[in-house]
Amino acid sequence: MISFKNVSKFYDHNTVLKNVSFNIAKGEMAFITGPSGAGKSTLLKLMYMAELPDEGDITIESVHLSSLKMSEIPMLRRKIGVVFQDFKLINNLTVFDNVALALHIRGISEREIRAMASESLKRVNLRHLAESFPKSLSGGEQQRVAIARAIVGGPVVLLADEPTGNLDPGTALDIIMLFRELNDQGTTILIATHNRELLRNTDKKTLKLEGGTFVQEEIV
Ligand SMILES: Nc1ncnc2c1ncn2[C@@H]1O[C@H](COP(=O)(O)OP(=O)(O)O)[C@@H](O)[C@H]1O
Ligand SMILES: [Mg+2]
Repeated sequence: MISFKNVSKFYDHNTVLKNVSFNIAKGEMAFITGPSGAGKSTLLKLMYMAELPDEGDITIESVHLSSLKMSEIPMLRRKIGVVFQDFKLINNLTVFDNVALALHIRGISEREIRAMASESLKRVNLRHLAESFPKSLSGGEQQRVAIARAIVGGPVVLLADEPTGNLDPGTALDIIMLFRELNDQGTTILIATHNRELLRNTDKKTLKLEGGTFVQEEIV
């Protein structure tokens, strides 16, 4: 599903990722961990082509990213849902419209958009807040909206970059539980976090980055 082969990324003379190789299978949920500055965000950005690798090969669902033309990048991005630490919701749109927004430019009918957005909000247990505005929601609820928006188009993989970074510990665990539920329903999920607490007792694959390379690969 996702494969990195000997991927390196440099910013000027700074080596951020060095010879990174790993595979994520369809239906898997895994964590990328490691201290701040280890290269976790960069690794995710390479997947949705916000950055390009300097060396190596990245494939997503058998597509070699290096073979994509600029005009094909939007197609790739539709296959990838991304969730960030700071939610990135549009505050003057309702919860429902935040979730539905990206579907409008895909030429999907209004009726289908309504059905898809409702279903997505249901999956994160937020249908009752569909007509609310983001600022009236708690941090955990706002992150649920962001997750609903990320999964609404049925991505092949859901990437999350420090998704619990702005949340208190209890809410953070709720969000991890939600990711687990979505994963149980079949979504492939990759979560970058420096928060080791979240990984305590996890049975999911944990890839630890340090100094630009994986220092251990463990299934705890
Ligand atoms: N656009 C950029 N230009 C230069 N250096 C960058 C850029 N983005 C990230 N870096 C550097 O790359 C390293 C890894 O950053 P990042 O991937 O954000 O790490 P993490 O997400 O693990 O905290 C850091 O040293 C950071 O300063
Ligand atoms: Mg980061």
